[in-house]
Parts: sequence; structure tokens; C-alpha cells
Amino acid sequence: MAPKGGKEDKEEIWPYKITIGICAMHRKATSKPMRAIMKKLIECYGQWVDFFIFPEQVILNEPIENWPLCHCLVSFHSTEFPLEKAIAYVKLRKPYVINNLDRQYDLLDRRTVFKILSDNGIEHPRHGYVIRGRPNEPDTELVEHPDHIEVNGEVFNKPFVEKPISSEDHNVYIYYPSSVGGGSQRLFRKINNRSSWYSPKSEVRKEGSYIYEEFIPADGTDVKVYAVGPFYAHAEARKAPGLDGKVERDSDGKEVRYPVILSNKEKQIAKKIVLAFGQTVCGFDLLRANGKSYVCDVNGFSFVKTSTKYYEDTAKILGNQIVRHYAKTKNWRLPPDMPQPPILDLGLGDDPPMITTPSGKLAELRCVVAVIRHGDRTPKQKMKLVVTDERFFALFEKYDGYKKNEIKMKKPNQLMEVLELARALVSEKQVGE
Ligand SMILES: Nc1ncnc2c1ncn2[C@@H]1O[C@H](COP(=O)(O)OP(=O)(O)OP(=O)(O)O)[C@@H](O)[C@H]1O
Ligand SMILES: [Mg+2]
Repeated sequence: MAPKGGKEDKEEIWPYKITIGICAMHRKATSKPMRAIMKKLIECYGQWVDFFIFPEQVILNEPIENWPLCHCLVSFHSTEFPLEKAIAYVKLRKPYVINNLDRQYDLLDRRTVFKILSDNGIEHPRHGYVIRGRPNEPDTELVEHPDHIEVNGEVFNKPFVEKPISSEDHNVYIYYPSSVGGGSQRLFRKINNRSSWYSPKSEVRKEGSYIYEEFIPADGTDVKVYAVGPFYAHAEARKAPGLDGKVERDSDGKEVRYPVILSNKEKQIAKKIVLAFGQTVCGFDLLRANGKSYVCDVNGFSFVKTSTKYYEDTAKILGNQIVRHYAKTKNWRLPPDMPQPPILDLGLGDDPPMITTPSGKLAELRCVVAVIRHGDRTPKQKMKLVVTDERFFALFEKYDGYKKNEIKMKKPNQLMEVLELARALVSEKQVGE
């Protein structure tokens, strides 16, 4: 148990700093958002935590026994990252893991992603799979017609979406019905100002394994959600890549983003996704249509590109989570002066704070504004009495009360007059009794 003490005993209360290791491909570990978030995290929690980046050369070429030690691990998969090695490292060293690594395999297969969404009651597009040439999996039968396909007997009318089973493959095709001219829109990872091309080809791909989804008519807008823990999510909207394939950019060359406020239901979805996929930091895509929000993609570890507010919030949420974890598990005293995480998304709890308003409607409580005065004040020594004795009326008249409608008696001799009168009345009353 840590000894008690004031601020000057911090070393004993918190005997050493917790080391956060960032284990990801170099480009991701040193990205602008990562640097900004870690800078803020150290600014706020540097008394208790520190961080370092695993060199990419070590991750790729060294056995896990030679990997550096850390208390807390921030690690995530991206192209060429050796997920298996990172999982073995966690097994060997047992750090506190921010984004579950075993579960990151789930994110690599779009079928597993949809299965998890389904198991957790999260709305997603109706879908079917076509499997070809996979070991231990029978090939799927696909019947193709001009305006629809049958996958395992299930019909998907055009427009529908065709996505490679591997979520690392971004060649997503959208097929149009013949009523609008047919053909398909072919999406790909952004190249300069393009994210898709139109192709007159209407036949679906015949090689490889795909997931087919009903097309959700979301008015050409994607909602990108970036959750950090179960109680916080930042969202922004972007033009859907399938619309005309032209990327909207601002004067700085950044992709144009539109502000979005998540509904309560969407916040609940964010919470469910963080928990269901075991990913504290987790991005996903929402399509809003028919009064609902459908999740069409879960990306796992992903940061908002440019938002100082998000960087600060994320740093505080992660810093707090890590310090609290160690205070609890090591029985160290929780630093009382530790910066607190943002509370702006309180609506994410199981029971959103719904309140009735004076106009009778239900509304979500977003904030409480209070005007507070200090209480260091002598209470007023006042008494209100109805008087009938005519001597009070004489006093009232003497000080011009009938003209001014009121009198103020503040001088000591005036107050003495009132006191004398009150005393006289009390003694008369006592004599009478
Ligand atoms: N079922 C659907 N209905 C309508 N549009 C869809 C559907 N699924 C995907 N889209 C559109 O296609 C885009 C790409 O789909 P998705 O996000 O699944 O692919 P991805 O390549 O994994 O994307 P990311 O770059 O986010 O990893 C979405 O942003 C959305 O605009
Ligand atoms: Mg996506």
C-alpha cells in the first residue's frame, strides 16, 4: 500500500511512471494525430506515464523476446503488421492492452464483422456471401440475372454492393439497375482526387470471394464515427465515394468534412461496437437512411485526421483510463489533481439522461448551467409584522410616510424611537394580562 502524503510525496504515492508502448507500423505510430495525442497525453499525465514507439525494424525483424518492455500497449494492425507476433508478445509480457489484438483478426474478415454486429443487435445491411476457392469452405452458388442476383437462394436486387471478403481489399463495386442505365461504380483507395470510377460493366466479379449487400440509400453521405472508449465518439460526414468518385477537398487539400451530431441511438451503437470488438479506439462507418443508422464497415484503430478538440479529448480519455487502471491494480493512490476526461458525451450511458422539459417534451440533458453565489454572508435580521397601534401610524406620519408611501429609519435615534414604542407596547400588554 502506498504511503499517505501530500503533493510533495508524489514519488512514493506513484513509485514509478507507467510506460506506454506504441507498437504499430512506423507510418501509423508517427502519424500527425498520434503525435498530437501523445504530446497532449504527456502534457496532462506526464507525472504518471511516459511513452515510446517500438522501432518498425524491431517489430518486423526481431523475435518478440527482444521487443522492448512496456506496462501498457497501444498496438494495432495495418498492412504488413505482424499481428501474430504482437499477440505472442502480449502473451509473453502481459501488458495492459488498449485495443485487443486477438480480436483484430475479426476485423480483417467482413463476414466476421457482420456476424459480430448481428450478434450484438447492431443494425447493418442485409447481406449474403459468395465463397470461391477457400480451403475447408464449399464454393457458393451464384445465379446472375440482369437486375438481380441469387446468393444461396437469397435475392439481391440492384442496386447492390459487392465487397471483397477481406476488409483490407477496398475494391468495392456498386451495381446499378438497368432502369438507370446499368453498369457499376468501382470504388478504390483514394488516388489524388478520385475515389471511384463508373464502369459500363454490369456483370458481377466471378473470381474471388465477396459479400453482397443491399444498397442503403444514404443520400450520398457517409458518417464516419471515431469512438474512444464506450462513452465518447466523434463523428463527421463525408461525401460517399460511390457518388461520382470526385473527392471534395478544401483549399488546404484536406477532404471536406461536415459536422455531425450523433443521435442517442448512434451513441449507443458506438458503445456497443467498442465493447463488442474489444477496441477502445475504434472507427466505423454509418449510413443514415429510412430513419435508421446502418453500420456498413468497422475499421478498428483509427484516429480523426485534423481536430485539436478530438486530440485533446482522446489524450484525456486514454490517459485517465491508463492511470486509473494502474491505481486500481497496483493499489496506488489515484492522483487527486489528475486532469479529468471530457464529460460532453454523458448521453452514452445505458440510460441516456432524458429529462422532461417545461413544455412537456422529452429531451436529452446536454449541460447544466448554474449561477452560484458564495454563502459567506450574515443573514438579514428582519421581521415582518402587521401593526394596529395608532402610535405606529403617528410615527409613520412623523417621518412623512403618507407622502412617500414608505419610511426608512436607519439612524440610531430613529431606531431608538421604534424600540421605545415596542417596549411600551410589550409592558402595557403584560400589565393588561
Ligand atoms: N450497403 C451499402 N449501401 C450503400 N452504400 C454502401 C454500402 N456499403 C458501403 N457503401 C459505400 O461504400 C463505401 C465503402 O464501403 P466500406 O466502407 O465497406 O469499404 P472499405 O473499403 O472497407 O472502406 P474504408 O476505406 O472505410 O476501410 C462506404 O463508405 C459507403 O459510401
Ligand atoms: Mg469504410
